[in-house]
Amino acid sequence: MRKRLIAGNWKMNMMMGEAGELARGVVDRAGGLAENIDIILAPPYTALGAVGDVLRETGIMLAAQNVFWEESGAFTGEISPGMLADAGCSWVIIGHSERRQILLETDEMVRMKIGASLGAGLKVIVCVGETLEERAEGRAIKTVDAQVVKALTGVDIDDPEDLVIAYEPIWAIGTGHHATPAEAEFVQSAIREIAGNILGDSAARIRIVYGGSVNEENIRDLLAEPDIDGALVGGASLRAESMASIIEAAGAK
Ligand code: PGA
Repeated sequence: MRKRLIAGNWKMNMMMGEAGELARGVVDRAGGLAENIDIILAPPYTALGAVGDVLRETGIMLAAQNVFWEESGAFTGEISPGMLADAGCSWVIIGHSERRQILLETDEMVRMKIGASLGAGLKVIVCVGETLEERAEGRAIKTVDAQVVKALTGVDIDDPEDLVIAYEPIWAIGTGHHATPAEAEFVQSAIREIAGNILGDSAARIRIVYGGSVNEENIRDLLAEPDIDGALVGGASLRAESMASIIEAAGAK
């Protein structure tokens, strides 16, 4: 039985004070469920300290939204996995489509970031997903297949629970048009198969979560699917009430 996971990706939002308040709101409303499911908050770098202070001893875990693959050195503007751990992070989100599209992150960069992060003891949420055009042309599985293969091949994964794959169709992110549970399940069961080709039996223990316009209304139906182990939540994670409702829906079953 895979433990469900709900992660809030705050993206480039929240000043330090607001971030602390939002984290406090989530802890107050849903902190009690941290024993049943993995709950993760990913504020921007500048608010990691403020949010980390609020999350201490609550069981809710802290994540960064990005990382660099080297440990230290002349890499202006970058942050290493060790620095994230030092700042209180136990998780990191890697390869979000906004980074792939806007910051031109490649599959190879994603793979190096995953390897370096796992090596430093961080747990990883790696994002994959197709564009609307790729879906329209019937290439959704092919796109995701290539992303998963390139992300995971040659990466050392000691504990399959340390790696989460987030299926985030790009056409569903921030649009209000989420994938239907059947659409997400179709791709996510394929992802488990692809991961199985690379990792063998341990792929059955990897969590695969869905992301893209998840909210308190659609979360239950999504979680009813066998290969949807949780959600990576963007917009709806910016309000404590909606994030707490999503966590409650995941923690209930
Ligand atoms: P959204 O974002 O929930 O606002 O669609 C999800 C994500 O980008 O992780």
